Amino acid sequence: MAENLHWFNTVDSTNTCLMADRQQCNDGTVYAALFQTAGRGQKGNRWESKAGENLTFSILFKPEALPATEQFLLSQIVALGLVDYLAEKGVTATVKWPNDIYAGNRKICGTLIEPVLADGRVSAAVAGIGLNVNQLDFDPSLPNPTSLRCETGREYDIQVELPMLLDRIFDRYDRIGSPYARNGFDAQYLEKLYRRGEWHTFEELPASDVPAEHRSGLRIKARILGIDPKARLMLEHADGTIHVYGSKEIKYIL
Ligand code: BTN
Repeated sequence: MAENLHWFNTVDSTNTCLMADRQQCNDGTVYAALFQTAGRGQKGNRWESKAGENLTFSILFKPEALPATEQFLLSQIVALGLVDYLAEKGVTATVKWPNDIYAGNRKICGTLIEPVLADGRVSAAVAGIGLNVNQLDFDPSLPNPTSLRCETGREYDIQVELPMLLDRIFDRYDRIGSPYARNGFDAQYLEKLYRRGEWHTFEELPASDVPAEHRSGLRIKARILGIDPKARLMLEHADGTIHVYGSKEIKYIL
């Protein structure tokens, strides 16, 4: 797909703008901003990014016939595209289910995918991506940030990098209709899952509206087995039992 890329100097949030414009925009439209005044992250958090240093952009997907139950496919496509792009830059990245991309034990990228559902299908989805590219200093309140420059020691022109990254994402999106390709995405996502198969500490969270980072629950030792068909994390506990978790039900202890 030939992307339809629009750069803006300043917007509130590329996700908010593209969502508002979605009816007039084609599948594959991309809004990118040098600066966002109200960048949005997961769980109602803000996404802060120094002006002009990083990639902050959103992609509009209007898939032809994607059942709502298969919307996780878009998340896989975006995550794997990011991992492919980072590999080209010499960075081995993994996917920290459900929304982050990690370089080692540090977060290099966050994604915020907002679907619009109609008649049991995904009629549109805005995939927002915040990739730390050149930033070296981060807000000390962030637990474990990194950037492409921190990882490689090189500086990048974000306007040159974005089309390369989009190529990696659209390579996969263009194959969304092929069941063969979809199976491949499942296998590749599994292979790239952060901490898969290793024993680590997690925290099971009690159901609540309080944001996950402010809730505490039961600490367990477990290992990631994979993702189930409902996009939940499958963990094996130390006693050999297998449990599944939605994103609000489990926290990684880093
Ligand atoms: C997260 O890790 O919390 C998700 C961060 C997503 C940030 C991106 S930056 C571009 C797009 N516009 C937004 O307002 N948010 C996403």
